[in-house]
Amino acid sequence: MKKDKFIIQGLGGQKKLSGEIEINGAKNAILKVMVSSVLFEDSFLMTNVPEIEDLNRMIEIFSGLGIKVIKKSKGEYLIDSQGINGKEIDEEISKRLRASILFTGPMLARFGKVTFPHPGGCVIGARPIDLFIDGFKKMGAKVEVKDEKYLVTAEGPNPMDGQMKKLKGTNIFFKVQSVTATETFIMAGVLAEGKTVLKNVAMEPEIISFVDFLNSCGAQITGAGTPTIEIIGGNLLKAEGKNYKTVPDRIETGSFLILGALCAKDLKISHCQPKHLEILIEMLRDSGADIEVGEDYLRIRDNNKNNAEIKSINIKTHEYPGFPTDLQAPMVVYLTQVTGESFIFETIFEGRLNYTDDLKTMGANIKMWDAHRATVTGPTLLKGRELDGPDIRTGFAFVIAGLVAKGESIINNVYYVDRGYENVEERLRKIGADIKRIN
Ligand code: EPU
Repeated sequence: MKKDKFIIQGLGGQKKLSGEIEINGAKNAILKVMVSSVLFEDSFLMTNVPEIEDLNRMIEIFSGLGIKVIKKSKGEYLIDSQGINGKEIDEEISKRLRASILFTGPMLARFGKVTFPHPGGCVIGARPIDLFIDGFKKMGAKVEVKDEKYLVTAEGPNPMDGQMKKLKGTNIFFKVQSVTATETFIMAGVLAEGKTVLKNVAMEPEIISFVDFLNSCGAQITGAGTPTIEIIGGNLLKAEGKNYKTVPDRIETGSFLILGALCAKDLKISHCQPKHLEILIEMLRDSGADIEVGEDYLRIRDNNKNNAEIKSINIKTHEYPGFPTDLQAPMVVYLTQVTGESFIFETIFEGRLNYTDDLKTMGANIKMWDAHRATVTGPTLLKGRELDGPDIRTGFAFVIAGLVAKGESIINNVYYVDRGYENVEERLRKIGADIKRIN
C-alpha cells in the first residue's frame, strides 16, 4: 500500500474555489460490470471507466481467473473472459476487497461451484454475508465451511451438460436491502434454471444501468429500479460489439457539491446526473445553499452575499433514493459550518460515525449518542490538523475539512481516497485548492 499523504492549506472558511470539475464514471457501477464478464462468452468494451485503485485490485483478481483486462486508452478497457478457468479467487485480495463477494454469484452459476473466504469486516462495520449464504441455499446449492472458507456447490440438474449442476431459479426475499447481494443474485439468476424472483432489492441507479447492459447482451431481467426484480435464466451472454458506458459517479458528484457548498465562489460540476442526487440537493437547498440544477451539471455559488442564514438540518441515511451513507461523512463536515444543531442518524453501517473524534480534534462540536447517532452544533471554526483517513469516504471528508479549516492539514492514508476518487488533488487544484501530494 502506498504511503502518500496530502498537505492542504485551508481557506479558513472563505469561499474561493471556482471553475469546473468533471465527474468520472461510478466506482460502484464499473466493479459490478467487470464481474459480469464471467457471464459472457465474448469480450466487451467499457468506457468512462474511472482510473481508481479499486479497479486495479479487480484487474489483479481477473488475471488469476484467466480473464483479460486490456487498457485501450484512458478510461477505456476491453474485458475478455474467453480464457476463464473457474479457479478460486485470490484469497488475500478477496479479504481486502469487499466487492469480491460479487464473483460468487456468476462463478457458482457458470461453474457449479465456488470457494471463497469471508470477505471480512472493515472500519465502516461488520459487513455480514448471511443474505448471500441464504440465497445460494434457496437456489438449491449446498454450503459447507472448511478451513475458514465457504465451499458452495450447485445441486440442480443441468440440461445442457450432464456433469455440471446448475442453480435453480426461485423466490428470494432479502431481509435487508443490499446493493451487492442484489447484483450478485441478478448475475446468479442469468445462468440459473428457470425464473428467479428477488424481492426487497436495492434500487440504486448503478443497478439499473448494470441491468440495461446485461439485457442488451441477451439477459432477460425486469424490474430494476423497483423493489422486485425477475430474471429468466438462459445461456451465456453475448456482447457482439456492444459497449458499457459507465454512469457518472453520484457519490463523487455529491462529495464535490458539498465541498462547493462550503468553499466555492462559483463552481460548476459537469458530466453528472443530478437526478440521482435529489435528496442531497433538497437537503443542501433547505439549509440555504444556492444550487442551479441542469440536465447534466450542477452549479453552486457563494450564498453569503445576501447574508442568508445557513440553517442546520437533520440527516438520516437510507437506501436509494434516501440519503446515501457514502455521503454522510462529507455532510457532517458541512454541518459543522451551519448555524444550530443538526442530528445525524446513520442507519446502514455501525462504524460509520467513528471518524467524528478526528473532526473534534479540529474544533468541531459533535456529540455521539451511540454508534448510529450524533448531534453536530455549529458553526465552529475548524483548525488544520494531521488526520488518518480510515476509508474512502471519510478520507475525502477529511480533505473537505482540511480545505474549510484555517491553517495546514495533513491527510494520511491517501491510498483510501485513491480507491474511489481519480486524481483528486489535480482536479481540486484546477478549481483553486491548495493541495499537494507527498510520497
Ligand atoms: N447486510 C446484511 N447481510 C448481508 C449483506 C448486507 O445484513 O449479507 C447489511 C449490511 O450490513 C448493511 C446493509 O445490509 O447494513 C446494506 O449493505 P449493502 O450490502 O448494501 O452494502 P454493500 O453492497 O456491501 C455497497 C457499496 C458501498 C455502500 C453500500 C450502501 C459497493 C461495492 N459498495 O456496499 O460503498 O456504502 O452499498 O449503499 O457497491 C463505498 O463506495 O465507499 C462503499 C462502502
